[in-house]
Amino acid sequence: MLPLIKIAPSILAADFGHLGRDLGRIASADMVHIDVMDGRFVPNISMGQPVVAAVRKYTRLPLDVHLMIVRPEDHIEAFAQAGADGITVHVEATHHLHRLLGQIKSAGARAGVALNPATPVSAIENVLDLTDLVLVMTVNPGFGGQEFIPGSLRKVEAVAAMVRQVGRNIDVQVDGGISAATAPAVARAGANVLVAGSFVFGAKDPSEAIVSLRRAEG
Ligand code: DX5
Ligand code: ZN
Repeated sequence: MLPLIKIAPSILAADFGHLGRDLGRIASADMVHIDVMDGRFVPNISMGQPVVAAVRKYTRLPLDVHLMIVRPEDHIEAFAQAGADGITVHVEATHHLHRLLGQIKSAGARAGVALNPATPVSAIENVLDLTDLVLVMTVNPGFGGQEFIPGSLRKVEAVAAMVRQVGRNIDVQVDGGISAATAPAVARAGANVLVAGSFVFGAKDPSEAIVSLRRAEG
């Protein structure tokens, strides 16, 4: 049995001039994925707390905030206050991951931890007791519209196996290059939360695109 799939459209690919309208188009999704980039941890600069607060007003869906920033510990409370329901930080962005995940929980948000393509799965084995979601990056972070890295499937399998051993509900999320073509394989590998930017917002009908991603449930 494949896990129930949750769909998290990334608004990085939305029309920022019509964000309210685009949020309405993804009302059938399970959460809204918000990519925060600082031009330092990743080459690109995207959006910050004011956008999270604006999105909060225009959707009832939970907000899944993906921080691709240096010194994430300086910004956790501000993102939680802006309306983030979940905050995901990169293993590579902090020296004190354990403390940082505790900080996210204390701020009242679900704690997520992300792995870049080059980062081994072992980086998270000692923090799973504090983790609600593991994000396996299936592209190098920084840009939407990149090609899915096929080798990441084995990593998803490894994370899914690790999470099963913990025996608690920890989401396994994938992000980057997810489409109707790649979704079945990541779902088979054990991912249950699919982030998709260009596939959803690039579609004529984003709600149809969401339906086609859900088919990965099998
Ligand atoms: C990449 C971001 C992704 C991105 C996905 O750094 O974390 O969430 O928006 O975009 P697509 O689905 O177009 O690959
Ligand atoms: Zn993301």
